[in-house]
Amino acid sequence: MDPLKPTTGFRVLKLFKIFINWSFSLHTARKSFLSYEVVDMNIFEELGEKQSVFKCKKFLDHRFLPDNLPHREDQIKSVAKYWVEALTNVTPPDVTIYGKTGTGKTAVAKFAKKQLDQVSKEKNVNVRVEYIRCTDFTTEYQVIARLCQQMGQDVPYRGWTKAEVINAFRNLFKKNVFGNDLILIIILDEIDILLKNDGDGLLYTLTRTDNVSIASISNFVDFKQFIKPRVRSSLRDREIVFPPYNAQQLVDILDERSDLSFNSGVLQDEVIPLCAALAAKEEGDARYALDLLRTSGELADEKGTEMVYEDYVREAKDQIEHNKVTDIVMTLPSQQQKVLESLIFLTKHKEEITSGRLYDVYKDITKGDSVSYRRIFDFINELEMLGLISTKTVSRGRGKGRTNLITLQCDMELLEDAMWSG
Ligand SMILES: Nc1ncnc2c1ncn2[C@@H]1O[C@H](COP(=O)(O)OP(=O)(O)OP(=O)(O)O)[C@@H](O)[C@H]1O
Ligand SMILES: [Mg+2]
Repeated sequence: MDPLKPTTGFRVLKLFKIFINWSFSLHTARKSFLSYEVVDMNIFEELGEKQSVFKCKKFLDHRFLPDNLPHREDQIKSVAKYWVEALTNVTPPDVTIYGKTGTGKTAVAKFAKKQLDQVSKEKNVNVRVEYIRCTDFTTEYQVIARLCQQMGQDVPYRGWTKAEVINAFRNLFKKNVFGNDLILIIILDEIDILLKNDGDGLLYTLTRTDNVSIASISNFVDFKQFIKPRVRSSLRDREIVFPPYNAQQLVDILDERSDLSFNSGVLQDEVIPLCAALAAKEEGDARYALDLLRTSGELADEKGTEMVYEDYVREAKDQIEHNKVTDIVMTLPSQQQKVLESLIFLTKHKEEITSGRLYDVYKDITKGDSVSYRRIFDFINELEMLGLISTKTVSRGRGKGRTNLITLQCDMELLEDAMWSG
């Protein structure tokens, strides 16, 4: 007998195995077909039904405007004190709102707008408050066209001359049916962006339009450096400062928001104080505190736990930081990325970073395709504004002048990750 030839018994066994496999797969196919028939659940429904620590996540969204803004009562009252004049048909003074990021400037301005809209409707007075975010509308033309559109006057975003748009805007100031003039309060949020991009022409036009009151919002106290004296003198502005929140104030803010957004009892006691403490270190930024809380909750959902634990907050911190740095780095123009690469190189070599030394390394890296030394200063400023680096002026001792030293402000590993992953 050929030892390699299968015996009949072996063949029978093989056939039996094939039959078993076939009937098994038929069975699973039937089963999955049946289960598909029985369950037949939409993928989104299925995800929506997953257990969650959140009751309603939208209350943690940046855009949500709460009815109550703890620790901003004074600032709200200040805005209201000036704007109230509009109800007696007097143009309110211009206001300037300053404060670091996440200190509630936009929220307070929108809150005051909502309240004034409500009361002017009740009292039937001709007052309007229009909100413009100058990151979306970055030139005088765009802002004025936008204002016209918001007020029901159809003006194209391009094609007209500036004078035509301004005319259309000024024509809106007609008396209402009761013969009262329209008083218009314009909130220009993140005005520094517009001033840097397009100069102070918008402020010039608006301060020379009767019945207009401007509320400018800026992160930078020195944004007025972009306004020329002729305009600055006609801004009849009152300043309102928004100090950073401290840890306790952030706890109060988070407490209110968490009641609205989380199921009761799902937050470990340490979660809110930790989010608040971490955000207090980040210059009292309420947006960051809310992000930490929301991300911690999302981590609990991802992991399928019923509670949000303190550790998740630390994990959330790393995740947020990682996303932030990646977002910034990915959107930097390539020459800026090269500057950053040079900064990483110098930091790794533990060198003192002056702009001159930075430029040398940058030129090596770009191999001739480099921008001028003067442009490097703009890049340094921009990177500082983005929070990636900080600069400090130091004195070199008598007669030797002063130098700017640059330091990286974010985790090197994170930065490298972001640089090379894109
Ligand atoms: N006192 C507060 N109570 C409740 N929520 C607040 C309070 N202050 C800020 N927030 C919330 O924190 C987030 C950030 O606030 P806001 O956008 O007003 O900051 P900002 O000062 O305008 O920051 P930026 O300068 O970055 O624009 C928003 O979601 C806002 O609702
Ligand atoms: Mg804002």
